[in-house]
Formats: sequence, structure tokens, C-alpha cells
Amino acid sequence: MAKTLDIDSKRKVSARKQELAAKDVVVANTLDVAPAGPNTKKVFIKTYGCQMNVYDSQRMADILAPIGYAPIDSAEGADLVILNTCHIREKAAEKVYSELGRIRKMKEEKDASGEGTMTVAVAGCVAQAEGAEITRRAPVVDMVLGPQTYHKLPEMIARLARSNDEVLETQFDTLEKFDELPVERMIKGFAAFVTIQEGCDKFCTFCVVPYTRGAEVSRPVDQIVAEIRGLAAQGVREVTLLGQNVNAYHGPAPAGSTQDEFGLGELIAHVAKIGGIERIRFTTSHPRDMDEALIAAHGTESKLMPYLHLPLQSGSDKILKSMNRGHSYAHYRDLIARIRAARPDLALSSDFIVGFPGETDEDFEATMTAVREIGYGSAFSFKYSIRPGTPGADMDNQVPEDVKSERLTRLQELLAKQQTEFNQSLIGKTLPVLVENVSAKNDGTVFGRAPYLQGTHFAAGPETVGQIVQVKITDAGRNSLTGLLA
Ligand code: SAH
Ligand code: SF4
Ligand code: F3S
Repeated sequence: MAKTLDIDSKRKVSARKQELAAKDVVVANTLDVAPAGPNTKKVFIKTYGCQMNVYDSQRMADILAPIGYAPIDSAEGADLVILNTCHIREKAAEKVYSELGRIRKMKEEKDASGEGTMTVAVAGCVAQAEGAEITRRAPVVDMVLGPQTYHKLPEMIARLARSNDEVLETQFDTLEKFDELPVERMIKGFAAFVTIQEGCDKFCTFCVVPYTRGAEVSRPVDQIVAEIRGLAAQGVREVTLLGQNVNAYHGPAPAGSTQDEFGLGELIAHVAKIGGIERIRFTTSHPRDMDEALIAAHGTESKLMPYLHLPLQSGSDKILKSMNRGHSYAHYRDLIARIRAARPDLALSSDFIVGFPGETDEDFEATMTAVREIGYGSAFSFKYSIRPGTPGADMDNQVPEDVKSERLTRLQELLAKQQTEFNQSLIGKTLPVLVENVSAKNDGTVFGRAPYLQGTHFAAGPETVGQIVQVKITDAGRNSLTGLLA
């Protein structure tokens, strides 16, 4: 009983993580990785930011297992604490420093207890952006490591043990990192993230990602397939292919192929052939990189879920231009029409920024009009946050905070209404649901994910866990669905 509760609560964190995925800050205290072997040391990894950081945290745990670290769900008593950070908005970065204040106290307690010390590492995008500034501002930090260097963790830990000098690694070793990641993953559950592409060459004028993740790099197809085969062998049924610009993917084609490179459409078709994998998703894509093959894949690949996250950011052409998005609203609208023609049951999601410099009431109304025209199943929306070093930070006409807040409220009301309406439109339909776990209430119900990612509750036995079952939807709220086993 206790065991069931434990697993269930972890699955809920995982569900929440997916919901929050592109949102302000994902804070994940559990990794969804199985603790490895008879380890003696404990590592706590806290994840902020996007799905790519969630993936990286799991991979850090994979890398640390062979040198004796087992993951735990709290910093209390940990031998190694890693904060895997996000720099996308100001608040996200500031949270790291307040967390470091709390960790400093825990480290002091551990040092005083005589049970060894606590090593503190800051990884991820704040580490890349701020480098040595972190150890200056928070001397509790022993190691600072950027997102393309974490394959060197064992070496960094050894270096720290030898010299006790702070360790700083912020190079862009993306391909080397992918080459050195272990093929085997310690994964729990039936849905997994797999990073296939990293970095960004697009330089939107609001965004730090090109600076924190480096240039666009695609993983070779064979490497991705080996990782997914391993996941399938562990019971994974659903993979989400990740990249900051996932549809810019152009990785070396598999051995024996007549082509040099695969695009994302071809990669999806290839992954769909892996035994055991029943569902494929990808995120985040850019409207400029939706090519014909990828659009066609929405019609031909039945394993590709009919749910596309395609960020528009703004409905105003003037703002899109100033953001350097490289496309107009009309381009986006036409694209959506073509993808919907290929896959009529497609639902859409997006990211929006309100209050970008120079955004007038009229520009904001263009965003509201776009949302009404397109119709979203869900979406994330943010107030523009000034990021030092990006072109947007130096633009005139910064929008006052109260105007941003008022616009965000109005946009979020509209998006919430669309989300509820979309969920309610599913009542009466029968949908395939991937069952993740039995309910913590132990009331004969289970919890799973619909194709559009809503959490779905229905009566079924524990034998359905890990399976995809047909569920007739009987009720819908803003965030979840209820149904009956069909
Ligand atoms: N590569 C993706 C987005 C990655 S960042 C794309 O191009 O769409 C995730 C989201 O954070 C962005 O889509 C954007 O909506 C938001 N974001 C990025 N920088 C921001 C900033 N400075 N202020 C507010 N929101 C921002
Ligand atoms: Fe940032 Fe733009 Fe790159 Fe997306 S495409 S990661 S928003 S710079
Ligand atoms: Fe944040 Fe870096 Fe992801 S800035 S959103 S963790 S790429």
C-alpha cells in the first residue's frame, strides 16, 4: 500500500511536470529514474525550466550512478545537490539564488553533523549565462556547469575532491556530450523525453537560449534510435522528441541509408518502426521550420499524436518582425490550415509574450484576434521579461508593468476559456489513453494521458497500467478529463 502511494505521488509530479513544461518554472524534485544498485552516496537534482532540462537532469543521474550516486527526492542529507537551472525569465533565475540560501543552511548542518559534506553544483542555463558570477554571489557553490558539459560530471567531482578549488565548465561540447551519454537510461514509467537537437541559431530578440545552449546541433539518427530502443525495452510506450528548435532537426542518417541526413519527418517515420513505441510527440517547433515532410507526417504517421505545440508569440506582424521571428501571422495561419488538412483532429498549443517593447493596444488586440481565429487546446503566456544582453533589452518603448499585467490577464482568460471548451468538445468521444498509475485513493480508478496530454481518470484495474486503452470521455474540466473504459 505504502509503495503504491509512493509511486503514485511520483507519477503525479511527472504529470504536473509535463503540464508545466513550457511554463515559467518547472520545479521537479523527483526524476522519474529508478534508483541504481547498492549505492552509497546520495544526489538530489532539482530541475527548473523546460523539458530539455528535465531530460538533462535524468541523464545526470544516469552518469552519476556508475560512480556510486543514487538519486533522492530532497536536499536534506544529500552528498551532492545539483540545481539544474533556467534563465529564460528574470524570476526563473532569481529563484536559484533564493534556493541556494536554503541549501547553504543544509550544508552547514551536514558539515556540523560530522557525516561528511554536501557538494553544491549549479548546472543549466543560469550556470552558462552567469558562470563565475554564481560562486561570487553564492560562495556555497562548488561547481558551475553549463548544459553542454554535464557528461564531465565524474571528472569534475574528482577534480573538486583533489583540489577543493571551485570547478567551472561552460564550453559548448554538445556533440561530445551526446557521444558520451550512456545508452542505458534509468527510467520509470511509460512516457519519456529524448533530446534529439540542442541549441538555437534563430536569435529572437527577447530570448537567451542561443546564448545559454549554443548553436543548433542535431544528434545522429542511430544514436537516437539506440536510446529509444533501450527505453522501449524498459516498457516506455511514448516518446517526446525534444529540441529548442526540434523541427530544425537535420541529423546524420542511419547507417546503410541512401541519404546523408534525416529531417524530423523522416526521423519520426523511423522511430515509429521501433517495437513497443506506440506514441510519438515532438516539441518545441518553430513556424519557420515546418517543412512539407513534417506536415505530411501528421497525416501518414498514426503514432504521431495529433497535438502540436507551435509558438506564435504575437499576432502582430510589427511585433513578430521586431522579435526577429522571421514570419508573419498570415504564414502561421496558412501553416495551421495545411497541418489541419493533413490531420483534422489536430489540437494546437502555443506560447505568447505580451508587452514586448513597442507593443501597442492595437498590436495586443492582433494577438487576441489571432487566438480567436486559430483556437487553441491549451497555451502558455508570459509577460515580456527583459533579459540583459539580448537586443530586446535595449529597445525603446518598454511597456509598463501594469499594462503587461492587464494584457496577460485578458489573454489568459481567453486561453482558459478555449482550453475548457476544447476539453468539453471531447465529451462523448472515445480516446486512447496511456495509463500511468492507479489512483492514490485506491478507489478502483486509474490515471492516464489522452492524446492531447490531459490527465484522464476512469475506473479500471491495475493491470491496465502501462497500456493504451480506449476511454469514452464523460466529463471535462479545464485541466482533466473523466471517462469510462470503452
Ligand atoms: N524555441 C521555442 C521557445 C523556447 S523558450 C520557440 O522558438 O518557440 C519558451 C518560451 O518562453 C518562448 O516561446 C517564449 O514565449 C517564452 N520566452 C522566452 N524568452 C522570454 C522573455 N524574455 N520574456 C518572456 N517570455 C519569454
Ligand atoms: Fe529562443 Fe527564438 Fe530560439 Fe525559440 S527560436 S529558442 S524563442 S531564440
Ligand atoms: Fe530555461 Fe534553458 Fe530551457 S533558459 S527554458 S532551461 S533552454
